[in-house]
Amino acid sequence: MAQLLRLDASPRRSRSHTRTLVGEFVARWSEGRPADTVIRRDLGYEPPPHLTEDWIAAAFTTPGQRTAQMRDTLAYSDRLVDELFASDVLVLGVPMYNFGVPAMLKAYIDQIVRVGRTFAFDPEAADPYTPLTSGKRAFVIVGTGDAGYEAGGPLASMNHVEPYLRTALGFIGIDEVEFVYTGNDEFGGERLQRSLERARSRVADLTPAREVVDVAD
Ligand SMILES: Cc1cc2nc3c(=O)[nH]c(=O)nc-3n(C[C@H](O)[C@H](O)[C@H](O)COP(=O)(O)O)c2cc1C
Repeated sequence: MAQLLRLDASPRRSRSHTRTLVGEFVARWSEGRPADTVIRRDLGYEPPPHLTEDWIAAAFTTPGQRTAQMRDTLAYSDRLVDELFASDVLVLGVPMYNFGVPAMLKAYIDQIVRVGRTFAFDPEAADPYTPLTSGKRAFVIVGTGDAGYEAGGPLASMNHVEPYLRTALGFIGIDEVEFVYTGNDEFGGERLQRSLERARSRVADLTPAREVVDVAD
């Protein structure tokens, strides 16, 4: 039994293509693996707070030396990190905003990439950084207004979503990441529908088929 953590970063409701596709991903996943649990954090509707001077001071103070106020300052970040550790699979819905991730998702990443929690830092070591999470997989569904941001596509060099997320997630130990793209939102019509269909079929390929249980007489 695994836990799936659903993260939606679009502030749009019914018009969001990433929300729709992430919803389909979760539905198919749950159908294929009914014993798995799903938890959800809605970054689009409830954006995590930006970091503050107090947060940075608290995060870079060793846990044994933190004051009660520092622990309080980090409580929300600790909750997000605990949630991440408790999850095996992440599925993220990510609108591309100005060629990168939306600020709500950046704020989430800033809350979970934590020294001493999700990565270790030893200035004396040959490799000073060690990821502290393992065994997790992530699926990222990216929505764009134009199209062709995938590797090899005409706009690939303008895509700062995938390289950034691969680096940030890899830094804490999440290296197994699949990307699904849906584009053409700004064009609408058939172009948009074709793009959604392609993304849907990728989602179907990535989600587990219903497990067949042999029943012995
Ligand atoms: C503020 C803003 C910035 C955007 N920037 C880009 C962009 O850089 N490239 C692009 O192709 N589309 C861009 N778009 C279009 C969105 O990526 C597209 O509408 C996508 O479908 C949003 O995801 P959603 O449908 O889940 O809300 C932008 C949209 C908004 C509102």
